[in-house]
Amino acid sequence: MKRTTSSKEIVLGVTGSIAAYKACEISSRLIERGHAVTAVLTESARHLVGAASFEALTGRRVITAMFEPFASPEIEHIAVAQRADLFLIAPATANILAKAARGMADDWLSTTLLATRAPILFAPAMNTNMYNHPATQENIEILKARGCAFVGPGTGNLACGTVGIGRMIDVPAILDAVEAALCETKDLVGLSVVVTAGGTREPLDPVRFLGNHSSGKMGRALALEALKRGARVTVIAGHMDVAPPEGAEVVVAQTANEMAEIALSLAQDADIFVGAAAVGDFRPEDPSEEKLKRSGKGLKLALVENPDVISQVAALKRDGQLVVGFAAETDNLMKNAKAKLKKKQLDLIVANEVNTEDSGFGADTLRARLIDTEGNVEELDLATKEEVAKRLFDRISDLLD
Ligand code: CTP
Repeated sequence: MKRTTSSKEIVLGVTGSIAAYKACEISSRLIERGHAVTAVLTESARHLVGAASFEALTGRRVITAMFEPFASPEIEHIAVAQRADLFLIAPATANILAKAARGMADDWLSTTLLATRAPILFAPAMNTNMYNHPATQENIEILKARGCAFVGPGTGNLACGTVGIGRMIDVPAILDAVEAALCETKDLVGLSVVVTAGGTREPLDPVRFLGNHSSGKMGRALALEALKRGARVTVIAGHMDVAPPEGAEVVVAQTANEMAEIALSLAQDADIFVGAAAVGDFRPEDPSEEKLKRSGKGLKLALVENPDVISQVAALKRDGQLVVGFAAETDNLMKNAKAKLKKKQLDLIVANEVNTEDSGFGADTLRARLIDTEGNVEELDLATKEEVAKRLFDRISDLLD
């Protein structure tokens, strides 16, 4: 993978938890994203994973000890500390948290954590009792107060045979947290963002529903971008094929009516409301309580209209609050999108072509245009949903000024 302007120097500190093997995948995913990775293995980590794997994955010599006869001054700890854009400690044991919190410097990693001014992100992994121990909790609080970021731990089966909190969080969540830690634009700090995502499902009977092809990828990208910029984020999640980003609060809404109720309540405290969900416009008038059976005569469905969630939210808009929608169109893109912007009283709309394979439901990319109430149009060509989310929040940020 070619390095890009957004590539960063990441020091990946691997400490002695059984989750150390997952650090190989983390290195590999970071390299795929164009970052340069220097892996540092503590002595305990070396009992669990081999330096050779990291060397092959990162293409760089792996740092394993303080007093190695280094071939290159490049890996001398002060040099590495200075050139790093981020220190990611994954997995982070109770021991490294304690050493970092108290400023102990008895090996390469703990010494370099003292020497660096780069952001530090910990992905803790340990036994539940060790994690819940007041000493560990106090160390985490100390590190957080100093500006260190944390991702996880998750809850589940632990290597010690128990079930509880302490598992290193999944690799995708760690990668999201890395992007958030690396993001230099922090224009949404202190603001609350609510995003509707995915598709609603309207029951026909206890086993069937009317739904749509929404994957939730756009909503996920929006929530992640807002988190990266420092916002508090709530996702009102319809059916999604992808998980909302770690760090966002998630409220599940099955139907359009549920989504409307939740949205109206959460919008009261939101500074920015973005409606990316594909909300079903109709629902069966009278869903059956029993499974519908074949009668040999077919089935006619009577449908009634659902509430328009974003219109209801926009109708109650406070001063300074922004409501942003999407227009999914197969034809007359600009005309229909402008009409929706006005009719729904939105501040901004993303006009979105949904009739080609590379744009719209399920795709990773989008052909979109951003239209504001003054008629300004920003054309985004074919862009990833992450890029669209970034450009949209750039515009939202301008409107907040
Ligand atoms: N939307 C909503 N509630 C609905 C329908 C749509 O909140 N019942 C929101 C969507 O989340 C999106 C915007 O309205 O932000 C436009 O959605 P879209 O599906 O393009 O338009 P509709 O209003 O459903 O109109 P139509 O289906 O006739 O194009």
